[in-house]
Amino acid sequence: MKRSLPIILLLLLLLSCGIALNAKEPSASGPFLIKPYIQLGSAKNALSILFAVGSQTSGWELEYKNSDDSAYMKAPLEQRTLNGNKDIKLICAQLNSLSPGSDFNYKVSQNGKQLFSASAQARPKEDTDISFGVLGDCGMGSKGEELITLQLANKHPAMVLIPGDIVYPCGRLRDYLRNFFPFFNGKKELMGKSLFVACPGNHDIAMAGMKDVRNLDESPDGMAYFSLWQQPLNGPITKIGNTNSPELKGSKQNIEEFVLAAAGNYPVMANFSYDYGNSHFLILDGNKYVNWQDQSLRKWVDDDLGATKSKWKFVLMHQPGFSSDWHHQEEQQMRLLADIFEKNKVDIVFSGHSHSYQRSCPLQFKLARARLKDQDRETKAGFVQGSFKFDRNFDGQTNKKAQGVIYIVSGAGGAKLSLPLLEEDPTRWQPFTRKFICKQHSFSFCRASSENLILEQIGQDGTLLDQIIIEK
Ligand SMILES: [Fe+2]
Repeated sequence: MKRSLPIILLLLLLLSCGIALNAKEPSASGPFLIKPYIQLGSAKNALSILFAVGSQTSGWELEYKNSDDSAYMKAPLEQRTLNGNKDIKLICAQLNSLSPGSDFNYKVSQNGKQLFSASAQARPKEDTDISFGVLGDCGMGSKGEELITLQLANKHPAMVLIPGDIVYPCGRLRDYLRNFFPFFNGKKELMGKSLFVACPGNHDIAMAGMKDVRNLDESPDGMAYFSLWQQPLNGPITKIGNTNSPELKGSKQNIEEFVLAAAGNYPVMANFSYDYGNSHFLILDGNKYVNWQDQSLRKWVDDDLGATKSKWKFVLMHQPGFSSDWHHQEEQQMRLLADIFEKNKVDIVFSGHSHSYQRSCPLQFKLARARLKDQDRETKAGFVQGSFKFDRNFDGQTNKKAQGVIYIVSGAGGAKLSLPLLEEDPTRWQPFTRKFICKQHSFSFCRASSENLILEQIGQDGTLLDQIIIEK
């Protein structure tokens, strides 16, 4: 037995390395290492479809047609090598001729042989009703993630938003291959039918506990957020080296490979905005290195929210400004933007980070101290003091007019849940918290219409855990 132990350990090591970095050939997903998945892309009114393959990189074709078209159109393809693994190629197709509001079909083939097909929805027209799911802190490879994926698929969402901590433990390519795509783009092929949009969390592009996931020497396939996601490039931080972006750490070669794989997405794609039907979405990087007291960044947020004519306004970030969870209690830096959200009448701010569901009352927050010291943002002293005005009359059932912004933590998507004690004892909640659920995994589902906005929280068994209706 003693002699066989080293062999077993060696086999385990080889097995884990094989899964991690040397996934050379397609297996479980047929010819694909990552099956086709839909992204916003960077062009307005277009969508992108991405998929990853092994050594067979030639002869690929993606064709699509709107539901009322008779013939398929060829999409232009680009190919990129991912950092940390030269054996995986990401193929990106740009769908520029989609009819807004219509369904479309697409098929992927290699050397004339069709290997994948699906139907999805183009971006909806302005002013049309929409629905979407929200779940953060999800890619853990857990039973909870599996159950949530099934419940989410039952809702047939046109769009799913992930408010950060997309994949654990460290946002690397190998983590995506193991803990993210096999779930959200596994048997149900959800990402091939629904548009997924993500906001980066600390596990994706900053710190995973004590581990710095930006260190490309430790993780040459790190910060895969910037290569695997293809989202709008209209954010305010465009230059490499800007201190408000995740710093690149590692050897010159590893950094160059990362920047090449990111194909222009780094660092700008950490913040962006887009319109979708009757709603506007603003995605913000809430990691501590961003100084949201910087006047030019604040102006960008204010201008973005002020310019939209959409009926509903949503903000997505990872770190919540307002949370009752004991974990990360000191990371309150995103409160610094509360005044801009209030001024521009944002309806809901979604976040994660706390592995729970939390709903606040509509609130207004007045900053007490003019500035949060720079050094406090990277330390434990990130408390942001101020005074609150609560809308105590809003209940989302009989009184549906919200005076202030509602803050939702939807971070129960698959990672280990927060302490159940917190759900059981409202006396431990902050005074703004109206609902706290962390005994089961859950996700949010929103329907935004010309009449109202309905927010539901759905549990891992499909149970309705919470519901509010907002009217303007
Ligand atoms: Fe987090």
